[in-house]
Amino acid sequence: MPLVTTTEMFKKAYDGGYAVGAFNVNNMEIVQGITEACQEQHAPVVLQVSKGARAYANHTYLVKMVEAAVKECPDVPIALHLDHGPDFETCKSCIDGGFTSVMIDCSSKPFDENVEITKKVVEYAHAHGVVVEAELGTLAGVEDDVKVSAEDSSYTHPEEVEEFVTRTGCDSLAIAIGTSHGAYKFTPEQCTRNEKGILVPPPLRFDVLEEVSKRLPGFPIVLHGSSSVPQNFVDMINAHGGKMPDAIGIPEEELRKAASMSVCKINIDSDIRLAITATIREYFDEHPDHFDPRQYLKPARQAVKDMVAHKLIHVLGCNGKA
Ligand code: G3H
Ligand code: 13P
Ligand code: ZN
Repeated sequence: MPLVTTTEMFKKAYDGGYAVGAFNVNNMEIVQGITEACQEQHAPVVLQVSKGARAYANHTYLVKMVEAAVKECPDVPIALHLDHGPDFETCKSCIDGGFTSVMIDCSSKPFDENVEITKKVVEYAHAHGVVVEAELGTLAGVEDDVKVSAEDSSYTHPEEVEEFVTRTGCDSLAIAIGTSHGAYKFTPEQCTRNEKGILVPPPLRFDVLEEVSKRLPGFPIVLHGSSSVPQNFVDMINAHGGKMPDAIGIPEEELRKAASMSVCKINIDSDIRLAITATIREYFDEHPDHFDPRQYLKPARQAVKDMVAHKLIHVLGCNGKA
């Protein structure tokens, strides 16, 4: 099937109490790892491209790689999405350039300005058959070259969401309920420790999510910053010359709960980076004489595939839904 928008996949996800995975793609191995897992698990998927990905890999290469995945995985509904579109021009360029979904992220701007720019993107996108994700509230962490400190982050105000969605006409809404971008989502000081001494992050604000959903019944909600930062990858990285002390993510059971509620799209990028880096670090340690990139990119691609398959089945619940 050709590239799809997220309209149908979000409706099914909302009604079915699961979420679709939105995975960031930056190179061929990542596209292959994700889509091969989705093909095997019969799962719909959002492949998303950031401004940084376009700068790294080039718009055309990314679109063509995704088109290749569409051809190779004929049973998988795939949406091609712009992640964190910073302005109208970037969104327009992706809409004109074959994307089926864009995010306009003006969450750091004042409410009225966010409405104004989002509305402009929605009008252009809808006229071209493309859907739009917008954002209210500010996540902590690093996205593209912008770093937001925990103090400057803010939860979404549920009392703003109806007016925002009505005025902008956006198709889905990313909200801030305590997730954060990157592999260092919380400082040890923000966490507690369990009986084994392992850091436990502060819980997500499900009360905010519930309040938002009450005000927007049937409307698809998006969670950014939703990598779990699996400890086995962090341990592998640290055991093979890396240095990632105190890396910490969102517990899987919290994401499962969000997926069973109104959250229809869950964004994952850092876990892909960790899977690749852990695998390659281990490989280099074990095979110091190897120098053919295919030798170490093959297991790295497999690690992405295995990690994504795990998410589809055990976190998102979207396996068997394609
Ligand atoms: O939210 C940010 C994503 O992880 C994309 O990261 O801008 O470094 O490609 P990037
Ligand atoms: P992570 O850094 O938690 O993977 O979040 C990715 C994301 O939100 C992309 O938009
Ligand atoms: Zn994000």
